[in-house]
Amino acid sequence: MQDLSIELWGIRFKNPVWVASGTFGYGLEASEIYDVSSLGAVVTKGISLRPREGNPPQRIAETPCGMLNSIGLQNPGVEGFLLHIYPRIEKIDTHFIVNVFGETEEEYLEVCLALEDRPKIVAYELNVSCPNVKKGGMLFGHDTKVLSRLVERVKAKVRKPVLVKLSPNVGDIRTFARVCVESGADGLVAINTLVGMKIDVRSGKPDLSTFVGGLSGPAILPIAVRIVWEVFQEVRGSVPVIGVGGIYDTDSALQHILAGASAVQVGTANFFDPKCPLRIIEGIKSYMESKKVKSFNQLVGRAHGIG
Ligand code: DOR
Repeated sequence: MQDLSIELWGIRFKNPVWVASGTFGYGLEASEIYDVSSLGAVVTKGISLRPREGNPPQRIAETPCGMLNSIGLQNPGVEGFLLHIYPRIEKIDTHFIVNVFGETEEEYLEVCLALEDRPKIVAYELNVSCPNVKKGGMLFGHDTKVLSRLVERVKAKVRKPVLVKLSPNVGDIRTFARVCVESGADGLVAINTLVGMKIDVRSGKPDLSTFVGGLSGPAILPIAVRIVWEVFQEVRGSVPVIGVGGIYDTDSALQHILAGASAVQVGTANFFDPKCPLRIIEGIKSYMESKKVKSFNQLVGRAHGIG
């Protein structure tokens, strides 16, 4: 039988198939449908220092090729998370990565520090790329100087691995990837959603209350694969790249992996089929068997060796 377990940052993950922030809550609803501990890891909805209500409705719009959202990082705040959610996720036998959001450097830092002594949380994913907030978030991910200061400051204070979730809404992704690594990031997560828009022609108005929102789903798969490819080339194995964007089956997950992803996160597909990640785990095993590949790592970035 193929062994899908992987080791990143000295941590053993059961497999490289994780669920993406904002598409799986904190894993509690899905736990009623299946055994969430079969997943390699759960990345939580973004958590900020204080509770956030998010943007007013309408904040979801479907399109033929993907989904637009403008949730605006609704979450109970780090205290609410620790009080009401953490005790429940402690019972789930897989790793959790907290997606951390801040309006200021201090807020990012305070959220991470509040989680430092919680063993269930194995890493932080700095959300510097949410397209749906006016303060913080994307403002960090779209300016190399601001980004580098944030990563350096967080890294100087925390012990757990710090991953940075990159924005696809920048010109030169390679530069942003390099700046994160030079500032001490332990991993890069590519990509957050792509800014998009939908207009209801009957009313003549944009669907979303914020007019624009983040596009996810199959529409962004080729963009995400291209970015994973470029980031993988840029970082040359110095840190792992985690692929996210448009993954909905084994083929789309493998595209990310062959482009250079050491693990993948299933996002929007969870809304349509919460068991999608389980099918992908089995699909990757079958693929490895058919290619006579014993270790998952042999697949990572394999497409770079060709042509
Ligand atoms: O598309 C996104 N929506 N990306 C994020 O990082 C956060 C989320 C939201 O809450 O708006």
